[in-house]
Amino acid sequence: MASQQRILLLFWVLIASSSRAITSTWTQDEIIAPSKLEMFVDELPNLTRVQGFNLVNGTLKPKFLNIGMFKKKWKFHRDLPPTPVFAFGTSKFTASIPGPTIEALHGIDTYVTWHNHLPSKHILPWDPTIPTAIPSTKKGIPTVVHVHGAIDEPASDGNANSWFTARFEEKGPTWSKRTYHYRNMQHPGNLWYHDHAMGLTRVNLLAGLIGAYIIRDHEVEAPLRLPSGHEFDIPLIVFDRSFRKDGTIYMNSTGNNPSIHPQWQPEYFGDVIVVNGKAWPRMTVRRRKYRFRIINASNARFFRLFFSNGLQFIHVASDSVYLGEPIVTNETLLGPSEIA
Ligand SMILES: *[C@@H]1O[C@H](CO)[C@@H](O)[C@H](O)[C@H]1NC(C)=O
Ligand SMILES: *[C@@H]1O[C@H](CO)[C@@H](O)[C@H](O)[C@H]1NC(C)=O
Ligand SMILES: *[C@@H]1O[C@H](CO)[C@@H](O)[C@H](O)[C@H]1NC(C)=O
Ligand SMILES: *[C@@H]1O[C@H](CO)[C@@H](O)[C@H](O)[C@H]1NC(C)=O
Ligand SMILES: *[C@@H]1O[C@H](CO)[C@@H](O)[C@H](O)[C@H]1NC(C)=O
Repeated sequence: MASQQRILLLFWVLIASSSRAITSTWTQDEIIAPSKLEMFVDELPNLTRVQGFNLVNGTLKPKFLNIGMFKKKWKFHRDLPPTPVFAFGTSKFTASIPGPTIEALHGIDTYVTWHNHLPSKHILPWDPTIPTAIPSTKKGIPTVVHVHGAIDEPASDGNANSWFTARFEEKGPTWSKRTYHYRNMQHPGNLWYHDHAMGLTRVNLLAGLIGAYIIRDHEVEAPLRLPSGHEFDIPLIVFDRSFRKDGTIYMNSTGNNPSIHPQWQPEYFGDVIVVNGKAWPRMTVRRRKYRFRIINASNARFFRLFFSNGLQFIHVASDSVYLGEPIVTNETLLGPSEIA
């Protein structure tokens, strides 16, 4: 069958933002040049999926999930040593970059107890001179989870001051509950979850605390006849990172106004583009339509996405809603907080 024939899809992610000059020589030696990492050698990982609903005797019921944040090591590329990261998962063993994709159904509640299992020492530099969640005991790394795009009660929204440390030992001033309630009453679409702790969001995200959250609605979506099922409906979470030769994530530890803020820089740009946790991965596809849910999880970088062989995209949805009608396009630029 022609439709079963496999072709290699080269998914190019080009960089539209200005490239940054690397000036400091000793760090330049330490940072791995992106040209040293061969493209398309690692297969695109299939993200773990977690159902946000229960099916009991044919009836849909709410689901209670426990998702933790763990320090572990992650292999970003065949030729990079394992990288210390912070990762979401239902266990340390299964924790991944990005974390598991939560698949919720419209109208069925999902409850998540987010557990912080992080140690006290961060893997990246952070700046205590900007408004920052700092535990009085100096123990633990504050985290709190925000589901970007979700319409939910404030107590479950992951306010930056509702942070908590490991075992809920210390909590921020607006903390009110352990188990977050997601009502999933909005349109079907793509959301994503990430850390949101005051002053630490950028470093906690750079360390790996991100994941996709999908809301489906069969009544609305079945008539659209879009590619579906785990093989053909795939989130692609794209971000940029720089790595040192030892595999660790490189982040400049000198602020651009260091006499006032020793470490703080307003933006982060990395040289290596990572999709679903692998640097420049490869995906072997069938000759048919796929649905990609492309999420820009970068700190500051724009992505211009196109096919190197002239194929076109049919753009059907942006962020958490469908477009009025599909748009055929050669390329897509992901703008601030944008999902295509
Ligand atoms: C499912 O239905 C069967 C038969 O009605 C019943 O015995 C069983 O307890 C039900 N299971 C649950 C989990 O409610
Ligand atoms: C992901 O799943 C597809 C089937 O849906 C399979 O062909 C592919 O090998 C899997 N990729 C990895 C990296 O396991
Ligand atoms: C780190 O940031 C400082 C201050 O902005 C800058 O002078 C230096 O060149 C940066 N280092 C690298 C390797 O980009
Ligand atoms: C899209 O690419 C095709 C060739 O692959 C070209 O003919 C067409 O002009 C392009 N469209 C736009 C809007 O750039
Ligand atoms: C990419 O997404 C992140 C997270 O939503 C956002 O903060 C950032 O502004 C986006 N970057 C660009 C350049 O669009």
